[in-house]
Amino acid sequence: MKEYLIGIDVGTSGTKSVLFDTDGNAIASATAEYPMAQPENGWAEQNPEDWWEAAKITLTEITAEAKDGRIVGLGLSGQMHSLVLLDKDDRVIRPAILWCDQRTGKECAEIECIIGRERLIEITANPALTGFSASKLMWVKKHEPENYRRIAHILLAKDYIRFRLTGEYATEVSDASGMQLFNVAKRAWSQEVCDKLGVKSEWLAKVYESPDVTGYVSEEAARLTGLPKGIPVAGGGGDNASAAIGTGVYASGKAFTTIGTSGVVFAPTDTPVIDPKGRIHTFCAAVPGTWHVMGVTQAAGLSLNWFRKNIAPDLSYREIDEVCEKLPIGAEKLLYLPYLMGERTPILDANARGVFFGLSAMHTREHMARAVMEGISYSLYSCVELLRENGVNVADMALCGGGGKSPFWQRMLCDLYGVPIKTMKSDEGAALGAAILGGCAAGVYASVADGCEKAVRVNATICPNVETHGEYMKYYEQYRDLYPALRERFSNLQQL
Ligand code: XUL
Repeated sequence: MKEYLIGIDVGTSGTKSVLFDTDGNAIASATAEYPMAQPENGWAEQNPEDWWEAAKITLTEITAEAKDGRIVGLGLSGQMHSLVLLDKDDRVIRPAILWCDQRTGKECAEIECIIGRERLIEITANPALTGFSASKLMWVKKHEPENYRRIAHILLAKDYIRFRLTGEYATEVSDASGMQLFNVAKRAWSQEVCDKLGVKSEWLAKVYESPDVTGYVSEEAARLTGLPKGIPVAGGGGDNASAAIGTGVYASGKAFTTIGTSGVVFAPTDTPVIDPKGRIHTFCAAVPGTWHVMGVTQAAGLSLNWFRKNIAPDLSYREIDEVCEKLPIGAEKLLYLPYLMGERTPILDANARGVFFGLSAMHTREHMARAVMEGISYSLYSCVELLRENGVNVADMALCGGGGKSPFWQRMLCDLYGVPIKTMKSDEGAALGAAILGGCAAGVYASVADGCEKAVRVNATICPNVETHGEYMKYYEQYRDLYPALRERFSNLQQL
């Protein structure tokens, strides 16, 4: 009888569940979308119940396609850092504050003051960042004390779905790394950070390695989703750690770029590599005993989605590609800074906001679309530069995520980076990675590397054009110089 694996990716625009065979072929895939609330400029929230509804709908759809075999394991992937608070009766206390929410600048300064910036980096491998979970918790403590008093459990997005599937309060090392309560080198919660911030140990989920079994699908969850009762649920990974596995980037020397709502450039390392200025993140990777560094563009797909929704609702993404392709590099001297939700790498500025620079009466919305795609790519290239600056090799680059499917964007990134880029057979990066981890938990694969060898396949390798690279570099230099010129203006604007 055939064996199947399931990967669930709890994303920002929607939850995707995919049924794979053990060779990594996607047999069925379903996505259910949900909104992101922005009650104030720079805030971002979602209702965890929406994630669970989406998981139930998509799982019910794909499990129906597994009639000729049996589903043997499941893995979870999801947006990182997004904070879910549960009370003693397991009720969600308030909407989850998401990874891209920028309200916690003051709380970050307080965390660094309480723990000491150097000590914080020594333990959590990262400076205090608005995107990470600890500052969100401190914000709730200060602004919503009645909610804070009710906290009995803190979970991350995919771990909330795990809880609904298995009844376990569990997480794994890659996602726990992004909470800023975790000793990244030791792969365990930091008692010191938790004590100093007043975070109770009993609130924290049990931490596993990504391929470990964290629980089993309960009878009730089986009834609600069509999953077989009792199958193992693997730790899984944050969406980026999972996408690494789904693109075969499981060992040092490899790297990948993903364009989803955020954009990420990711490279595994054998030891924790820490940027002294804290501009790239250092987290545990999904392969036990390994770590990774990554740079994050907050609004990658989010920028293009914003553009399409507000300025070109009549065009599909494919049509946007087609019109952009006809325009020259540089969009006839129009630049875009993708800071719609502040920015992380390399500027770490929660106050930064989006900019079109150089707008002229001759420009059309087609130029704006090309500028948006180029601006996102320049931001990703600055992540590549920073990884290189920290001694991490990014010559072996794979590409995934929704944006990674666009041949036009693939070519743009390849020429801009100036390195060959591998596109993948499966579009499902993070969900495939989660399913491979599920396969490890189920005993289908002997190790994560074994799962990658069996289930991940490269589609094609595209090679950079040296001349085009040179042309992009001219605009990249202009792009890079814009933020320092605007830094103070962004800050002043936020203070109005
Ligand atoms: C990573 C990050 C984003 C989210 C998006 O640090 O915040 O990539 O994981 O899903």
